[in-house]
Amino acid sequence: MSTTPRRVEHQQTDRGYVPIYTTATVEQPWADYTRTEHEVWSTLFRRQREVLKGRACNEFIENQERFGMSPDAIPKFQDLNKVLKAGTDWEIVGVEGLLPDEIFFDHLANRRFPVTWWIRKPEQLDYLSEPDLFHDLFGHVPMLLNPVFADYVQAYGRGGVKAHKLGPDALMKLTRLYWYTVEFGLINTPEGVRIYGSGIVSSKGESIYCLESDSPNRIGFDLERIMRTKYKIDTYQQTYFVIDGFQQLMDATQPDFTPIYARLKEQPEFAAGSVQDGDRVIHRGTGEGWVKSEET
Ligand code: PHE
Ligand code: CO
Repeated sequence: MSTTPRRVEHQQTDRGYVPIYTTATVEQPWADYTRTEHEVWSTLFRRQREVLKGRACNEFIENQERFGMSPDAIPKFQDLNKVLKAGTDWEIVGVEGLLPDEIFFDHLANRRFPVTWWIRKPEQLDYLSEPDLFHDLFGHVPMLLNPVFADYVQAYGRGGVKAHKLGPDALMKLTRLYWYTVEFGLINTPEGVRIYGSGIVSSKGESIYCLESDSPNRIGFDLERIMRTKYKIDTYQQTYFVIDGFQQLMDATQPDFTPIYARLKEQPEFAAGSVQDGDRVIHRGTGEGWVKSEET
């Protein structure tokens, strides 16, 4: 059965003028993509593959190649799913956009990764404020072929279901972990620091900035430190956390977080660009270009 997905546009609600999406999964309307949309994919694909040479970690590059994604056309979810299912038993499902937390967590806990079916417009090549097909497919899907990372994301989904029941405080701490690992994570390799975070690999500017700029901090991964650290949603990150390997992520997140959430509730939070005593500092950011704000 196939339904034609329709992106529900902005709507006036009691929370303001916000985008409203259906939370159901939808079939990818592949035959309806226009020439322009395939070209947006093509341009971004070629550009990022070039930028990521020597910047993204091998796991990302190699797994992306296994999917056979190419600049020729927007990939079909069906084709990617054959590789993904056989590889790590994950699958991608089409969605209209960002989902409510509980629904998102439930997908991940069941090894389903929601992918936005629509792609950005040609004038949005460098930036858009919500995930689109390019971010989700190019950025997230490759790492799901890595067995350890695939299990980590599922465990995160299960942890999300639990945190959601515990309340907004726990949820915020867990969300920061996702942000600083899955979206904006760096990894230490024998060849140097490399990118694995999806929010970085889908952005040309941030792919260069996160590794080469003197502005941001680069700090060794520490679970509780990350949980206490605020983050920027509308600028490049002020701090990146660097893991030593994907097993480290798995191991650090095995314990039950419930007592950790309880303990951290009593402790102050950290500004996005701050450096704390006890940090394993790889690079102390100069903070150049940061917009000063009271809050962070
Ligand atoms: N161990 C976490 C908990 O008890 C679950 C989790 C696993 C969270 C992996 C994030 C990543 O909540
Ligand atoms: Co993302």
